[in-house]
Amino acid sequence: MPGPGHEMIGKEELAELLDVMNSGYLFRYGSLHDQAFKRKVYSLEREFEAYSGANHALALTSGSAALIVALKALDIQPGDEIIVPAYTFIASYSAIIFCGGTPVLAEIDDSLTIDPEDIEKRITAKTRAIMPVHMLGNACDMDAIMEIAKRHGLIVIEDACQANGGSYKGQKLGAIGDIGTFSLNIFKTITSGDGGILITDEEDIYTRAFAVHDQGHLPNRTGVEVGSRSILGMNFRMNELTGAVALAQLRRLDGIIQILRQKKAQLKSLLQGIPAIGFRRLNDPAGDCATLCTLLLSSAAQAAGVAQQLATTTVDNSGWHVYANMEHFNRWLKEQGMPHGKGAFPRTDDTLSRAINLSVGVVDAGLGAGFGINIHSDEAEIEQIAAKIAKAFTE
Ligand SMILES: Cc1ncc(COP(=O)(O)O)c(C=O)c1O
Repeated sequence: MPGPGHEMIGKEELAELLDVMNSGYLFRYGSLHDQAFKRKVYSLEREFEAYSGANHALALTSGSAALIVALKALDIQPGDEIIVPAYTFIASYSAIIFCGGTPVLAEIDDSLTIDPEDIEKRITAKTRAIMPVHMLGNACDMDAIMEIAKRHGLIVIEDACQANGGSYKGQKLGAIGDIGTFSLNIFKTITSGDGGILITDEEDIYTRAFAVHDQGHLPNRTGVEVGSRSILGMNFRMNELTGAVALAQLRRLDGIIQILRQKKAQLKSLLQGIPAIGFRRLNDPAGDCATLCTLLLSSAAQAAGVAQQLATTTVDNSGWHVYANMEHFNRWLKEQGMPHGKGAFPRTDDTLSRAINLSVGVVDAGLGAGFGINIHSDEAEIEQIAAKIAKAFTE
């Protein structure tokens, strides 16, 4: 039971897939005038533009691919520094390193997203961009981040891979900075097994991103290209089968978030009464994807005790998203002579040691969210889980 989109896969996804299979044509390009070409990837991109409010959307093979394409489209060069939080998935770091850039880690705050004050402290003459990561389905402090970026002339790449459908002050996450990236892997709000999407308002960035994702070609391979391709690209193209599933899932996104918000509100209201309980601060509670509910307690010892009772883990001990637990990345940091290993980001270490991720829609032990409710939980189950949590606080 990984992500909510996965749990909702049904006849709509099957219908879209069969539409492609019956056509027998699986490649993303074809003539829009040809009835046999079902244009699922093309439609996904246009519908995602309408959904996000961005001028351009580009479908890709993964969220990691979306980050690489974004960085290449923005012409990140060797030596360029990109400020990124110490709490995120490895791909936020590895994409930067793959593109020759240098990830410069910054502390998180009590929202478990990047601390704007710490961003400011880490800006140098080499800084090109900030990569805020909307962790656990919630927005970073985008007003502060955009203000810092503007003042220092920096690019903003939003890693919204965990926050598809979330918003900040009425704007969809991913559509606030220069580029936004999304993942469609199985643990995300919606899924096509794997897949990614990139959005931007800028025509020029879109044209470059398109070229990067498809061997230097112009958008949708229109126009005369031979002899005029300006940049080298790769192949990060989405195929029609993936596009078909992603399209059906996109049409479910708002419905999924609505269900999760309702269930999370019930869970949270039942937990509010527990003395000593605390929650992660949300930069915009109204834009919450509600995929998770993060407890933030006052001491690491108390959090460890509660986590043990619930047979789960505090976030610092979860495997996948904590800088100190990424041995391969830490090796790279060490080689560069950069801060690495536990203790390098003390405020992040402390915050994560006091945090417990409860599942609401995303059930992922790798995220420390192996315990909680899910998109199918009924009121009785939510009450039961809340009672278990209350009990864990008294033992
Ligand atoms: C914050 C973040 N960035 C990037 C990615 C990479 O996405 P994908 O697995 O689709 O490559 C993930 C996926 O878990 C993520 O959580």
